Amino acid sequence: MTRMRTPLVAATLMLSLAAAANSQAADVDKAIEYRQDALGVMAWQIGPLGDMAQGKIEFDAETFTRRAENLAAVAPLPWEGFVEGSLQGDGHGIETDALADIGENWDDFESRQQSLIEESAKLAELAQGDDVAAMRRQVAAVAKTCKGCHDNYKAE
Ligand code: HEC
Repeated sequence: MTRMRTPLVAATLMLSLAAAANSQAADVDKAIEYRQDALGVMAWQIGPLGDMAQGKIEFDAETFTRRAENLAAVAPLPWEGFVEGSLQGDGHGIETDALADIGENWDDFESRQQSLIEESAKLAELAQGDDVAAMRRQVAAVAKTCKGCHDNYKAE
C-alpha cells in the first residue's frame, strides 16, 4: 500500500505546483495590466496640466488644483505593479514596454519613482497658492521626471 501511494502523492504535488505556477503567472499578468492602467490614469491627469502650462488651453485655477491633487495622489500607485518576472523578455503573457534594464538598475528606477512623487506633491502644494508662473514651471519639472524615466526604461 505504502508503495502505491508514493506516485499518487508525487502526482498531486506536481499538480499543485503547476497550479501555483499558473496562478503566479496570472498574478504577473494582472500586475502588468494594473501598472499600465495606473500610468494611463497619471497621463490623463497631467494632460490638461501640460496644456495649461503651455498655454494650449486657458488656465483655470480650479481645474489646475484638482488635476494637480489627483496627479499627486496617483503618482505613488503604479510602482507596485513592477513585480518580479514582469519585464520585457520575462516570458509572461502581456505586451509590455518595460525594459529588462529596470531589473538591473532597480535603485535608479526607484529613485526616479521617488522624484516623480516628490515633484507631483510640490505641484499640488503650489496649486494651493496663486503663483501661476511657478505652477507652470513645476508642471515642466514633473514632466521631466516622466520623460527621464521613459528615456531610460521604456521601449519606444
Ligand atoms: C520610474 C519610471 C517612470 C516614471 C517616473 C514614469 N513612467 Fe511612464 N512608464 C514607465 C514604464 C517602465 C512604462 C512601461 C510600462 C509597461 O508597458 O508595462 C511606462 C508606461 C507609461 C504609459 C503607457 C501605459 C500603457 O498603457 O501601456 C503612460 C501613458 C505613461 N507611462 C505615462 C507617464 C507619465 C504621464 C508620467 C509622469 C507623470 C510617467 N509615465 C512617469 C516608467 C515611468
